[in-house]
Amino acid sequence: MEFLIFAVIAYLLGSIPSGVIVGKAGYNIDIREHGSGNLGATNTFRVLGMKAGTIVILADILKGTLATALPLFFDADVFRLGIGLFAVLGHTYPLFARLNGGKAVATSGGIILGINPVLFAIMIISFLITLYISKYVSLSSIVTGVVAVITSIIFRDWALAIVISALTIFVFYRHWENIKRIKNKTEPKIKWM
Ligand code: G3P
Repeated sequence: MEFLIFAVIAYLLGSIPSGVIVGKAGYNIDIREHGSGNLGATNTFRVLGMKAGTIVILADILKGTLATALPLFFDADVFRLGIGLFAVLGHTYPLFARLNGGKAVATSGGIILGINPVLFAIMIISFLITLYISKYVSLSSIVTGVVAVITSIIFRDWALAIVISALTIFVFYRHWENIKRIKNKTEPKIKWM
């Protein structure tokens, strides 16, 4: 029963469309009508710039981290990971944005931050290195997912390895259009790095 209650709260938390809120409140723009049409941090950076993008990425990470902190009295990582997954579900299929949400990256990162900050730090480094080399945010997200799987296996943290593997497959699925664009050389590259 407790799991169900926390799962619903985590889903609602994940459903908060920070990109839409920041765009509408601060810039009178619906982020979903611009750029890639995605409401995530990448498109917010792209359309609204560094300040708005930074707010959105931090908010989206926080949704995952807060979800893992919800079950205060159940400190088993497996339980907290399970609750965190519902925040990713909310972020990707948000109740407050017509079930059309982000690509699961930032909120998944937030879960990992809540469970294993060292792994999160490794993921940030992996993301930045891949971004520096490729200039593709989408590719950096996918590569970082794979790095996180490998690292969690090296850490012999099996619960985390299983959850991250599932999340990485989901991230692949959510980035299918980006992967096609990378192949066709039509995926936009970042210009500021
Ligand atoms: O992981 C990167 C993802 O957010 C890409 O978003 O807007 O380029 O499709 P977008």
